[in-house]
Amino acid sequence: MQQLSVGMVGLGTVGAGVARILTQHVGRIARRAGRPVELKWAVVRDLKKRRDADFEGVRVVDDVRKVIEDPEVGVVVELIGGVDAARRIVLDALAAGKHVVTANKALLAEHGPEILAAARAADRAVAFEASVAGGIPILGAIDVGLAANQVQSLAAILNGTCNYILTQMTQGGIAYSQALADAQALGFAEADPTLDVDGTDTAHKLAVLAQIAFGADVRTADIPREGIDRLEIADLTYARELGYTIKLLAHARLADGGLELRVAPSLVKNDRPLAQVHGPYNAVRVVGDAVGDTLYYGRGAGMMPTASAVVADLIDVATGRAAITSRVLDFWSPDAPPVPLLPASRTRRRNYLRFLIADRPGVIASIATILGHKGISIASVIQHEPTPADENGEPGPVPLVIMTHLAVEEDLRDAIREIDRLDVVRAPSVRLGVEE
Ligand code: NAP
Ligand code: HSE
Repeated sequence: MQQLSVGMVGLGTVGAGVARILTQHVGRIARRAGRPVELKWAVVRDLKKRRDADFEGVRVVDDVRKVIEDPEVGVVVELIGGVDAARRIVLDALAAGKHVVTANKALLAEHGPEILAAARAADRAVAFEASVAGGIPILGAIDVGLAANQVQSLAAILNGTCNYILTQMTQGGIAYSQALADAQALGFAEADPTLDVDGTDTAHKLAVLAQIAFGADVRTADIPREGIDRLEIADLTYARELGYTIKLLAHARLADGGLELRVAPSLVKNDRPLAQVHGPYNAVRVVGDAVGDTLYYGRGAGMMPTASAVVADLIDVATGRAAITSRVLDFWSPDAPPVPLLPASRTRRRNYLRFLIADRPGVIASIATILGHKGISIASVIQHEPTPADENGEPGPVPLVIMTHLAVEEDLRDAIREIDRLDVVRAPSVRLGVEE
């Protein structure tokens, strides 16, 4: 069979890993693909930049048109990141009759419907396994391995940078800024690491998963999200005291005829598998109506794990499997029945609350009364001995940590607003959800 010529746009962390696999394992890839897969072009922004490796036989250029206009190129791999330039390259590649492989979750979360419509019109495949959870083949697991199921819920650690930072902070006592710098140096972070730590990257991946697992067409802005950038060390410590670990989680659940979605730092009981996921590792728990509980674990970021997923997609393009998947599953189809999103205000979960309060009689009672009036039941409370009095003899404020039973989000928000207005409350309260 004729070889598959690849034009790769982007030769950074992931691109260099893809080039390494394709140039160092030619025989293995050809056997799995049923034909040779040749990396013909690599497009970069800056030709003068020093590269760690020289990939023999690969033409490195700074003009993407060389790839798009080359009739020998059968597939374009987009690995530049960002949205606007990547969108143009992907649409131009499809219009020129090339298949596309991409690791770009931001692009899919914002322009999935447009890109898949262009692929449909051109009768070409778009494969994007590397866009979610790096080296874990989670999209294939859901759309092939769990095809018999209606996915009911998923909970996932999807950002290697955040999980690495949280692990370094909790296990290594490393400061947040140092842990983030290390994650960048290790190649886990996005070009703009704000997208990692503020929860946007996880929301991009959840938007893709929402389509694959539930057929929901959601944009990033539809997903309520919080990152780890405002987490305080005190909450990591209290969570540990309570027997929990804090993880940045993507959460999706079918409930009351709609889909509940969110991204937030959440407390996970220490004996749950997700609490045992450390460093740059990702994990996805998927519950299907037939299979029940399943768990997928592996490296979610970095050069070679992500390249593993990109090359698997290239092999699927070479064999024709990617074209079949694209045609049959028809992602982001305009004909698919809509899946409504549940308003965040109606969702229910257990919560961790931390207040900084004056050490006076009746304070805990007034907080408990407000929670009680909103129907929020207290599961446990921690309050330690106060800090020594200051030079005026005033006792310092004390933290009060409350774990609640299940509470409706809207009721909880109202209660916190009311509590934060009490004159005995010294700082805005902290609230984190519990993942069951
Ligand atoms: P990166 O290290 O920043 O590399 C980006 C590459 O794209 C560089 O080679 C850069 O050229 C090139 N580039 C940027 N803009 C370009 C343009 N307009 N035209 C041509 N080339 C351009 O990024 P990365 O970490 O490999 O990530 C690539 C994609 O994979 C992103 O979508 C990211 O979200 C996704 N991803 C990354 C990981 C990870 O762990 N890093 C994991 C999963 C998915 P120069 O080298 O000349 O600057
Ligand atoms: N920046 C991302 C992360 C890369 O840290 O998980 C993988 O998508």
